[in-house]
Amino acid sequence: MKIENKAIETFDFSVKYPNGVLGCDSISMPFAANEVTAIIGPSGCGKSTFLKGMNRLSDEFNCTYQGSVIMKNGTDVMNLDPYELCLLRGNKIGYVMQKPVPFSGKTILQDVSMPLRANMEPDGGNVYDKVKSALEKAALWDEVHDRLNDLSTSLSGGQQQRLCIARAIINAPEILLLDEPCSSLDPKSTQLVENLILELASDHTIMIVTHNMQQAQRVAQRTAFFYEGKLIEYDFTNAIFNNPSDELTGDYIVGKFS
Ligand SMILES: Nc1ncnc2c1ncn2[C@@H]1O[C@H](COP(=O)(O)OP(=O)(O)O)[C@@H](O)[C@H]1O
Ligand SMILES: [Mg+2]
Repeated sequence: MKIENKAIETFDFSVKYPNGVLGCDSISMPFAANEVTAIIGPSGCGKSTFLKGMNRLSDEFNCTYQGSVIMKNGTDVMNLDPYELCLLRGNKIGYVMQKPVPFSGKTILQDVSMPLRANMEPDGGNVYDKVKSALEKAALWDEVHDRLNDLSTSLSGGQQQRLCIARAIINAPEILLLDEPCSSLDPKSTQLVENLILELASDHTIMIVTHNMQQAQRVAQRTAFFYEGKLIEYDFTNAIFNNPSDELTGDYIVGKFS
């Protein structure tokens, strides 16, 4: 789909695992700046591989890449060296996994502030203020302001996920990658995280992988349907859910397969 103001774009982007499995296959996809884009599709269709590939987290699985992932400033993520990658992940692209991952043995303050260490150009302000601001944006401050020195692992699941989001946004990244961020949360925490996504979209470009069709429709302006590693259809969310042009997309959204 044609997009004027793009925050990042992939071109014929493929990620291959060492066992030969092509996790995602020749995906060309622009992402609109300051919008939420949902990625949907059945299990194993390559959603997580694509998301992890975009900030090269798949390096950890010894994956190989083809194609490119171009940032707004023209940088190709595929060309970055390990040092530049650390900066990218710390400052430009935040990532939140399906299962919240608080750092063991760290306090809430230490946990959320960790990416500040990768920030080469701190724009003033102290650690406490930055942590406070991130926790406020993540709608968690009111619940934890008087226990910042407690272990982050002592929080509930829903709080831990919002803590991971606070950590992912503390350096104000342009892009936020969310891989099924609500799949382990109860309905109340899910609603908090969805509200948060809508608020963060005003100054972040957000990609969210979700299994929940209602969630995609609630939070995303655009939606992409993946199947067997390929991008099948990409359009405004309304069009995908009300008037899909591909039969596979139509079958998936009405639940003929999952
Ligand atoms: N670490 C891995 N090693 C080998 N193959 C993997 C690995 N992780 C995922 N895959 C394969 O890559 C494909 C895409 O998986 P994934 O991206 O996890 O799909 P989704 O997130 O859509 O469920 C699947 O065939 C899966 O089996
Ligand atoms: Mg996945």
